[in-house]
Order: sequence, then structure tokens, then C-alpha cells
Amino acid sequence: MTMTHKAIPYKAGFGPYASDVFRLPYPYPYRNPIPMEEIERRLLSLVDPKEVACCVVEPVTGEGGFIVPPPEFLPFLRELANRYGFLLVCDEVQSGVGRTGKFFACEHSGIEPDLICVAKSIAAGFPLSGVIGKAEIMDALPPGSIGSTFGGNPVACAAALAVPRCNRRGKPPR
Ligand SMILES: Cc1ncc(COP(=O)(O)O)c(C=O)c1O
Repeated sequence: MTMTHKAIPYKAGFGPYASDVFRLPYPYPYRNPIPMEEIERRLLSLVDPKEVACCVVEPVTGEGGFIVPPPEFLPFLRELANRYGFLLVCDEVQSGVGRTGKFFACEHSGIEPDLICVAKSIAAGFPLSGVIGKAEIMDALPPGSIGSTFGGNPVACAAALAVPRCNRRGKPPR
């Protein structure tokens, strides 16, 4: 919620938000053809890039208005991430899973992100999401240190539906 730029409706009534999330301009060839050097200049004016954990980018924006950035944009971010030592995360929640003609929209630019977020069309309406990443990152956390209370819910729901309803004494209702 800190990261989304769309205050209404997503952030309205929530908060406070996490600090130290910085936004860079998104190049829009038609309305805002911002040069790549300007993006780096803005980055350096906001934060020490060596302290940045990751850069999260939508390869094609969704809520921001379906903007296809210039072809040099993602390779430039990849190069910045390599140079300053932060991860490049592609948010493919809206652009991924075939919606741009390739499985992931970032494939059009030939770059390889460190992490990819997926949701929406990965399950076509079913509430499913995921993070795909390089093994060295995904396996960095020790077993049991990350999980989800409700992660098993679809399975639990399917099991509940498969079992006949019973009352508290274990008998089917009349
Ligand atoms: C591109 C993109 N990323 C992320 C999200 C939402 O992610 P979450 O619900 O995990 O905050 C959305 C929601 O529509 C989205 O469009």
C-alpha cells in the first residue's frame, strides 16, 4: 500500500505507511519522454543507491494507464540494479501471463529480473498470487521463517465442500 501511487481508492482511510519508498518517473514516449539519464539523476537525488534494496517496476503500467515504456527502459533499470547492487523486481500482476503476447511483459525487453510478482491472470479470477525468483534469493530465508496463515485456504475450502455437512455430534443435518 505504501508503494501504490493511487491514493483513492487504495490508500484512503489506511495508514500510516512505511517510510523510505521512493518513486522515480515512468517514461511515457508519448506524453513524458524522459531520458534515461534523468531517471538516474532523480534516483541519486532521492537516495544513496547503495542503500536501495530493490527497484519494483511494472513492465507495462496497469493502474497508471497502460503505458508501454520505451524499449531501453527496462535494460537501463537492469544496468542500474547491477551497478548499484539492488534487486530488480518486475511487478507482472497486470502485465504478466500472456497479456502482452509473451508470458511475461519483461521478456519483450530481453532482461531477466531478480524477482517477478504474479497474480490476477495467473488464475483468471481465482485469488492466487505468487513471487517467482532466483533460487539464491528465494532460498535465502531459513525454513519456517516466512509463511501465510491463509495460504492453505483454497485447499481447505475444497476439502470442506467435499465433505457432507455435519452437526456438532458428527451427524448429517436432518
Ligand atoms: C500491478 C499491480 N501490482 C500489485 C497489485 C496489488 O497487490 P496487493 O494486493 O498484493 O497489494 C495490483 C492490484 O491491482 C496491481 O495492479
